[in-house]
Amino acid sequence: DYILTHTNFVRKDDLKYPFEERGLQFGDGIYEVIRVYKGQYYLIEEHVERLYRSAEAVKIDIPFTKKEMYSHLDELLRKNSIDTDAKVYLQITRGSAPRDHAFPSNTTANLYAYVQDLPRKMDIMREGVSTITQPDVRWDWCYIKSLNLLPNVMAKQTASEAGCFEAILHKDGEITECSSSNVYLVRDGKVYTHPAKKNILHGCVRMKVEHFCKEEAIPFIEEAFRVEDIQYADELFLSSSTAEVTPITKVDGHLVNEGKPGPITRTIQQKYEQDAK
Ligand code: PDD
Repeated sequence: DYILTHTNFVRKDDLKYPFEERGLQFGDGIYEVIRVYKGQYYLIEEHVERLYRSAEAVKIDIPFTKKEMYSHLDELLRKNSIDTDAKVYLQITRGSAPRDHAFPSNTTANLYAYVQDLPRKMDIMREGVSTITQPDVRWDWCYIKSLNLLPNVMAKQTASEAGCFEAILHKDGEITECSSSNVYLVRDGKVYTHPAKKNILHGCVRMKVEHFCKEEAIPFIEEAFRVEDIQYADELFLSSSTAEVTPITKVDGHLVNEGKPGPITRTIQQKYEQDAK
């Protein structure tokens, strides 16, 4: 098991975390989760572009060019002889320095990335998942994929304790996204989702969902829907690099479409399947 740290590869058991690491002390860093199918990256450019956008937004200077980043990420798969379905977790923190909220000077960012097998979640994609709604108590800059995930963790734990797969988040009743995925409502043949503003993560799979809708002439409407709209939904689904496109069949104990995944969700899932091959 090789872990990429900066430009070096170390064995998992030899990984050492520096003292006073800003990722640990402040959550002062950013990350990506990238899907791998049969040993090949999926949507790698979208993830790398978003990583650099997140870094710029929080003024972290990534010590490599994008070109170097691609080659390190490729080497991570090669060194670990990955030919399966997997995920790569990559994080970059501002670095290690004596603890002070203000940025340290003369500190370089710490990069760390590993790959892990992740079989596709075929059963939940077929059957759909239950969800609950939860208030979105996160900050205003959720477009940054930051390591500060405590509100997401709390929401997901509440969902998990309720026997649910995801928490659908809302700000004053307006649905933003889920704790670790984007969410969509289907009504009268149209797909509605929160606009890609600063208060949601601009999901790489979300970009694909938009593209698939365009190709299928399904109107993709970037208009936030509300908690009370859910009861009139024909379908509901979510998307992420790990859950792909997954139907939502229950919200707060109420069935969506009598508990069955709907036709538009199925179309988007089929398009994803073709694209990810
Ligand atoms: N989460 N919204 C949030 C809050 C997320 O954390 C994620 C991804 C998404 C979907 O983004 P994408 O389509 O690029 O995966 C939306 C990853 C999978 C995670 O934190 O594990």
